[in-house]
Amino acid sequence: MTQLMKTRVIKVNPTRPDAAAIRQAAEVLRGGGLVAFPTETVYGLGANALDSNAIEGIYRAKQRPASDPVIAHIHHPSELDSLAIDIPAIARRLATVFWPGALTMVLKRAPGVPDNIATGTNTVAIRMPSHPVAQALLIAANLPIAAPSANTFTRPSATTATHVLEDLDGRIDLLLDGGETTIGLESTVIDLTGERPIVLRPGGVLLEHLRAFVPDVMLAPKYMGASGKTDTSEVAAVSPGQMIKHYSPRAELMLFDGRDMSVVVATMQKSVQRLNAQGKRVGVLAPDEEHLYFAKEAQVKLLGSRDDLQAIGHSLFASMRMLDGRDVDVILVHGFGQDGLGAALWDRLLRAAEGKVIRVD
Ligand code: TXA
Ligand code: MG
Repeated sequence: MTQLMKTRVIKVNPTRPDAAAIRQAAEVLRGGGLVAFPTETVYGLGANALDSNAIEGIYRAKQRPASDPVIAHIHHPSELDSLAIDIPAIARRLATVFWPGALTMVLKRAPGVPDNIATGTNTVAIRMPSHPVAQALLIAANLPIAAPSANTFTRPSATTATHVLEDLDGRIDLLLDGGETTIGLESTVIDLTGERPIVLRPGGVLLEHLRAFVPDVMLAPKYMGASGKTDTSEVAAVSPGQMIKHYSPRAELMLFDGRDMSVVVATMQKSVQRLNAQGKRVGVLAPDEEHLYFAKEAQVKLLGSRDDLQAIGHSLFASMRMLDGRDVDVILVHGFGQDGLGAALWDRLLRAAEGKVIRVD
């Protein structure tokens, strides 16, 4: 990969970011440059959301097809009206309840917002992040910031500054290093432009919580069937940019699913043995409870207790990257159910496994 520029890295206090650092980053954004910054979900790769050339730069840096739309970040719900039109009442309600936070709303795009933020649609995705660094940067730049996750296309999202550099060093102007992100999984994306609200991507804001305010919300069809909760009456169009290969470690990921924990674990153990016999280096992403089953025959990365999905979400992407760093050929993992944050975890694992699930029933 050619080194295109020198990436400056500035450390910032994640709770009380240094004003001088924020000012420098804001200047880069105002000049059309690229700044990676922490949000509460994952690191974002930011550019001026009102400048189509700057947005073009995001796609180049990420090596991502321009057909994959990008989220516009704002610092206050009042900015909704400058980016979107025909905003439904439910969007304002959801903004009041869930912002700042891990909810992204897809709305009709206002004139003047560059087309390449969501090429091929008349929509724009908008989120108000809660991370103090993101907030400070948005205020200082006095611009909406277009930002996808700060990883190269198909790699796991970056939850630390080191991950951002792994993928984007030499490809962006500046990185604000605010330490680890807290949630570790991306935002929930809800499309409010159709007849019925659709969750295009489960994430940091739980479906169960959304349902309290949007009872008729449905999950995009690509999740049904894969989740085992198929309901074919609830079918909707798939959003652009929702191709399955995403969040992938370099190693092949084998995703196991099944009701009986001990049967699944036994099947995984057999797979580990078979792969070892083939001379493959095997990694396992395991909750603490499953550690002992694999400790002898595989590189195990512990994710925390199965009962603590937040801890698992916090470390999932970092753990995939860590096993990649140990040069494993294959990574085995057992899903974490579909409830609560389990839905978002399942989505990320399913994509990392390129849509393949090994069902053990
Ligand atoms: O938590 C997050 O959402 C992070 C942080 C940086 O905010 N951002 C993020 O961006 O994950 P990205 O680009 O990696 O994922 C954005 C998701 C994609 O699934 C994309 O297809 C969807 O949002 N999306 C963005 N704009 C859209 C639009 N106009 N219509 C439909 N889907 C859209
Ligand atoms: Mg992404």
